[in-house]
Amino acid sequence: MHSQQQAVSAHYAVGDLAERVLAALKAAGKDVEHLTHADLAPLDAFHIRGRDATRELAALAHLDASHAVLDVGCAIGGSARYLAAQHGCRVTGIDLSAEFCEVAALLSARCGLAGQTTFRAASALELPFPAASFDVAWTEHVQMNIADKARFYGEIGRVLRPGGRLLFHDVFLGPAGEPHYPVPWARDAAISHLQPAGAVAPILAALGFRQRHWEDVSARSLDWYRARVQKLDARGPAPVGIHLLMGADAGQKFRNVTRNLEEARIVVVQAVFEK
Ligand SMILES: C[S@@+](CC[C@H](N)C(=O)[O-])C[C@H]1O[C@@H](n2cnc3c(N)ncnc32)[C@H](O)[C@@H]1O
Repeated sequence: MHSQQQAVSAHYAVGDLAERVLAALKAAGKDVEHLTHADLAPLDAFHIRGRDATRELAALAHLDASHAVLDVGCAIGGSARYLAAQHGCRVTGIDLSAEFCEVAALLSARCGLAGQTTFRAASALELPFPAASFDVAWTEHVQMNIADKARFYGEIGRVLRPGGRLLFHDVFLGPAGEPHYPVPWARDAAISHLQPAGAVAPILAALGFRQRHWEDVSARSLDWYRARVQKLDARGPAPVGIHLLMGADAGQKFRNVTRNLEEARIVVVQAVFEK
């Protein structure tokens, strides 16, 4: 594996993740043999605004059972399960982390979604699929870890069929400059490759994509993060939450996302492009 990708994998490595997740769910009173995607929502939506953001982006996708969806950088499969359960589509998730993919498959099986979701450890920069394999590509909060944006979007373009759509919900560099670290995707600048949001559309245009939707959701993201940090300060970490994926400095990362949004060091955009 390329050294940048090794550094990204090391950043997201948790260890004993399946045991920790199942123990937390049990402690919260869940039947871990029979879970629902909603039981997992506090834990498996590893992006700003959690399941709310997934639901909003899905509403732009008009998905149904005929669609084959690729979730690029799926982590433990929260969005894949949500899309499969709510919209009936088949979802393939890929992620650099073999540990995340194993936990994703385990949780899908416990939710009765093993037939509709599959997970595979792979790099977004070398997608292990033939050209034109998918109707929809979905990606949330992944490209911040990838320096070569043209290759990232180029691989997505290759595996999408003509007329297929790319949906993303992503973090970009804000006008105030470099973010405060650590943040959920990086402990320092070494694996954080933020670019201004304006840099993406020309890359996608050069690859033949047409923009169908573009919305800056930074203000909603800040409201959501402020509420999360307030809750954290008042009650401490919830038994089941994305902090389980984020290490001992999760609280500091949450606070820095809030501060970075307040100071316009990061912006968040959801968008739809058509190939
Ligand atoms: C912040 S998490 C977001 C996960 C998921 N999309 C979600 O929203 O719940 C970023 C994920 O991107 C994955 N990732 C980063 N670089 C990648 C690459 N080059 N190829 C595949 N996955 C990558 C990481 O392993 C991690 O699981």
